Amino acid sequence: MRDLEDRELVRLAISAREKSYSPYSGFKVGACLEAANGVYLGCNIENAAYSPTNCAERTAFFKAIYEGERDFRAIAVAGWGSESGYAYPCGVCRQVMMEFCDPKTFKVIVAKSEDDYKIHYLEEILPYGFCPKSL
Ligand code: THU
Repeated sequence: MRDLEDRELVRLAISAREKSYSPYSGFKVGACLEAANGVYLGCNIENAAYSPTNCAERTAFFKAIYEGERDFRAIAVAGWGSESGYAYPCGVCRQVMMEFCDPKTFKVIVAKSEDDYKIHYLEEILPYGFCPKSL
């Protein structure tokens, strides 16, 4: 599959945000993960017991892993709250990315709109990370 444009990943992440199940925080997040054979969309899924909540990023990753994907290029994350900051992946999601992605080449795109997004590499947002090669 050809590489999708970053902007297209952002557009899909914004569409995935509409699926958010977030009755407790009201904070909707969508994600679009680009893998070798396709894209995987995810949203955050909250729980009345709070801690079982799954972030949008992990929803997308776990769908992709189940489908057999192991080669990931980029993820776009769309989320914005009252302060209108970007929704950066939480520490748990960064660690899941570290399990499956090359931190030097895997792109993490945080988006507020199709015209307002920032691009990072996993290595920048999780320096000195622990990964399978660390064992
Ligand atoms: N959340 C995500 O889905 N991804 C992020 O990058 C940050 C936080 C979700 C978890 C929870 O449902 C809500 O946002 C508030 O923390």
